[in-house]
Amino acid sequence: MAVFKSSIVLRFAQLGALAASVVFMGSSAAQSNNEQIAERLKPIGEVCLAGQSCARAGAAPMAAVSAAPAAASGEFDVEQTYQTSCNVCHASGMAGAPKFDDNAEWAKRLADKGLDMLVANAISGINAMPPRGMCMTCSDDNIAALVEYISGHGQ
Ligand code: HEC
Repeated sequence: MAVFKSSIVLRFAQLGALAASVVFMGSSAAQSNNEQIAERLKPIGEVCLAGQSCARAGAAPMAAVSAAPAAASGEFDVEQTYQTSCNVCHASGMAGAPKFDDNAEWAKRLADKGLDMLVANAISGINAMPPRGMCMTCSDDNIAALVEYISGHGQ
């Protein structure tokens, strides 16, 4: 009886060990699965990160780049193009951009540099002002018209 009992206890002990090892193996399998998945996802994560920095570098200008609506109508719409290309910075004075409605500032720039210089600077860019205000479809003449509009609207 005593022998029988102890062999049952032994059985349970063995079963317990077996169960434990199954659980252990199971979890270590799951563990290594997770590692494999993480390993497999890694390139994607890296691509995402790389893509993110690309997107940061590329997306902001892309959003700001706007086609001049001229192309559609065949006629250059100064006011419309100002709204889509220049207003983003010149309405708020972002990064030191002379505000659209700051007549005194524009008068000063016109007096200091002259319209031609302002146009040239708007075309090639100056300090935080990107070339052509990032209006890639704007011709030099279009920019000249925009600069006249932006600097002379008050007069
Ligand atoms: C990303 C912001 C940004 C956009 C978009 C932008 N500007 Fe500017 N602009 C600036 C900043 C900043 C300055 C001030 C540069 C300085 O004098 O240091 C500036 C200055 C200017 C000046 C004065 C240049 C000078 O020599 O004093 C003109 C003219 C001008 N912008 C025209 C335009 C026109 C036209 C557009 C649209 C086609 C435009 N800008 C779009 C930021 C912008």
